[in-house]
Amino acid sequence: MKNLMVTGGAGFIGANFVLYMLQKYPAYRIVVYDKLTYAGNLDNLLAVQADPRYHFVQGDICDAALVERTIQEQAIDTIVNFAAETHVDRSIMNPDAFIQTSVYGTYVLLEAARKLKLERYHQISTDEVYGHIPHGFSSKETDNLAPRSPYAASKASADLLVNAYFITYDLPVTITRGSNNIGPYQYPEKAVPLFATNALDHEPLPVYGDGRQMREYQYVTDHCEAIDLVLHKGVLGETYNVGTAVEMENIEMIALLLQTLDRPTSLIRYVKDREGHDRRYSMNVDKIRALGWEPNHTPHEAIIETARWYRDNEWWWRKIKSGEFKAYYEKQYGHRWQEA
Ligand code: NAD
Ligand code: DAU
Repeated sequence: MKNLMVTGGAGFIGANFVLYMLQKYPAYRIVVYDKLTYAGNLDNLLAVQADPRYHFVQGDICDAALVERTIQEQAIDTIVNFAAETHVDRSIMNPDAFIQTSVYGTYVLLEAARKLKLERYHQISTDEVYGHIPHGFSSKETDNLAPRSPYAASKASADLLVNAYFITYDLPVTITRGSNNIGPYQYPEKAVPLFATNALDHEPLPVYGDGRQMREYQYVTDHCEAIDLVLHKGVLGETYNVGTAVEMENIEMIALLLQTLDRPTSLIRYVKDREGHDRRYSMNVDKIRALGWEPNHTPHEAIIETARWYRDNEWWWRKIKSGEFKAYYEKQYGHRWQEA
C-alpha cells in the first residue's frame, strides 16, 4: 500500500487523515478525490498543497468513468472512502444526496476496486448504524444494524454493500465505525463547532430537547490513528468500532465549551428536538484495543482542544459562516427560535 485515493478527503475527517498520513509515511502518495460539496474545503489541505506526494481531483464518487480513470492514471492501490453527506439534520430535510452518495457512490467505488483489482478498500462508517442504544448496553461489531435517520440508513446500506463484496467477490475490505469526531476543520453545522463559534460570537446555542442525549466525543486525530492501524493490521472482511467508551451528555459538553471560551451559560437555549433523535450511542471497543489502539485524548481534553482551535482560527470558520451556511441556519433554526 502506497498510493492511496482518499475519497471525501477535503472534508473534516478526511483532510485530517490526509495530513496525518503524509506526515507519518514519507513514501506514500495520496490522491484526494472529492466533489467539493458545501462541506468540502481545500483550506483544510493548505498545509500539503505544495507537497509533491499530494494530488487533488475534483469529482463525484458516483461518476464511475472518472473514478476508474483516476485510479488508473494515478496507479492507486488503496481506496479509503470518507465521501458522504454527513449531517443528520440535513438528511431529515432532504435525504436524496445521502442515498446517492453513500449507497450508489459506495457501489461505484467497490465496483472500481473489484474491476481494477485494488489491494484494499476501506470504508469509513459510524456508530449511528447501530441506532439508539439503551442504557446498560453497548454495540459490538457483530450486532444487527438498526439505523433510524436517513443519514444512518445510508451509511448502514453502504456497510452492507462492502460486506457483500467481501463475501461474494473476495474483495479485500475493512470497515471502521467511529463515534462523534471533533477537532480542527469540522463544518460548523455540527454541534461542537456550531456551539463553539456561536459562543465566540455571543450568539445563543440551540440545544435540542432536554440536552441530555449521550455521545462519545473523540478527537479526530485519534480516529485517524485507528484507521491507519486497521489499514495496516486489520483483518480483511472485519469491522472495527472506534470510540472512547466514555459517554457524555450534550449539556455537559456545552458547559465545558462555555467554560473554556469564557462565555456564560445564559447563552443556552432549549429548542425543539431533532425528529427521531437517537438519545444514546455506545460502542464496545475491545476489538480495536486488541489491535493496539488507545485514544490519546479524553473526551474532556478533546472538547477543550477543539474549543481553543475555533477560538484561534477565525480565518477558517468565519468565511464559512457567512456563506451557504446562513440559508441553512435560517431553515434549520428560524422556526426553532420562534417556538422556543
Ligand atoms: P464532511 O461532511 O466534513 O466531509 C465529507 C466530504 O465528502 C466533503 O469533502 C465532501 O465534499 C465529500 N463528498 C460528499 N459527497 C461526495 C461525492 N458524491 N463524491 C465525492 N466527494 C463527496 O464529513 P466528515 O465529518 O469528515 O465525515 C467523513 C466520513 O466519516 C463520512 O463517511 C461520515 O459518515 C464518517 N463519520 C463521521 C463522523 C463524525 O463525527 N463527523 C463520525 C463517524 C463517521
Ligand atoms: O456518531 C457519529 C456521527 O456523529 C457521525 O456519523 C455524523 O456524521 C456526525 O454528524 C455526528 O452525528 P450527530 O448527530 O451525533 O452529531 P451532531 O453534531 O449533529 O449532534 C451532536 C449532538 O448534539 C446530538 O445529540 C444532537 C445535538 N445537537 C446538534 C445540533 C446541530 C443539538 O442539541 N443542537 C444542534 O444544533
